[in-house]
Amino acid sequence: MKPVTEAGAAVYSPLTLKLYDAWVLGISNQWAWQCPTRQVLLPFFRRHVGFRHMDVGVGTGYYLAKAQLPHSTAVTLVDLNASSLEAARKRLNRASTRVIRHDIFQPLPAELPGQYDSISLFYLLHCLPGSMLEKAHVFANLKHALADGGVLYGATILGDEAGHNGFGIKLMEVYNKKGIFGNRSDSVEGLRTALALHFAEVEIEVVGKVALFTAKVPVLSNNL
Ligand SMILES: C[S@@+](CC[C@H](N)C(=O)[O-])C[C@H]1O[C@@H](n2cnc3c(N)ncnc32)[C@H](O)[C@@H]1O
Repeated sequence: MKPVTEAGAAVYSPLTLKLYDAWVLGISNQWAWQCPTRQVLLPFFRRHVGFRHMDVGVGTGYYLAKAQLPHSTAVTLVDLNASSLEAARKRLNRASTRVIRHDIFQPLPAELPGQYDSISLFYLLHCLPGSMLEKAHVFANLKHALADGGVLYGATILGDEAGHNGFGIKLMEVYNKKGIFGNRSDSVEGLRTALALHFAEVEIEVVGKVALFTAKVPVLSNNL
């Protein structure tokens, strides 16, 4: 059965996107999730971005815009929400940007296999419904898009096991109730297992309540 994916994307309107950087990347990352954007997440984004890059779940396009990408970097934006795609496309302001409106629970368009040196998924997984094993469909869909030597990497807010502080507990309650998050049962080990189904090399580091992960060497022979 197809998971109900729309709620995790529907909240991103032109208005909420205007507030997103200040509220999520500024206040929430610092005080609720304890993983500061400029000190941790942005350097992690920059460390792994390659020449041909796909960003999935683009939001406002903050990381792409701040990453100081060389002009030669080819960027593809993938998101279910047209407002997010438009905000990120405008902010990046590069004529060559490819934009694909797509639900990442579905297989990618047929022409994309083997095209990307890097694929980023920042703050996407915790917005998706279902268990980590169900979220692994996303890795199954994306792994085919990586070129030889490519890396899939990202960051996701962990569930209840992370031991959130008072501010985090409040946000978790409200967001999970509204379907903006679907991460109550997301754990580091669940993420590791889901990634290992599709990649031979997996690394996860936890900063605050956020798991930062890299996955390399796709396993293509498992028919998943
Ligand atoms: C929390 S924002 C993350 C934005 C940005 N990557 C960041 O870290 O600031 C989540 C983004 O994922 C998108 N999204 C949610 N569910 C999706 C799905 N099923 N397929 C593709 N994009 C999705 C939303 O529309 C939104 O742009």
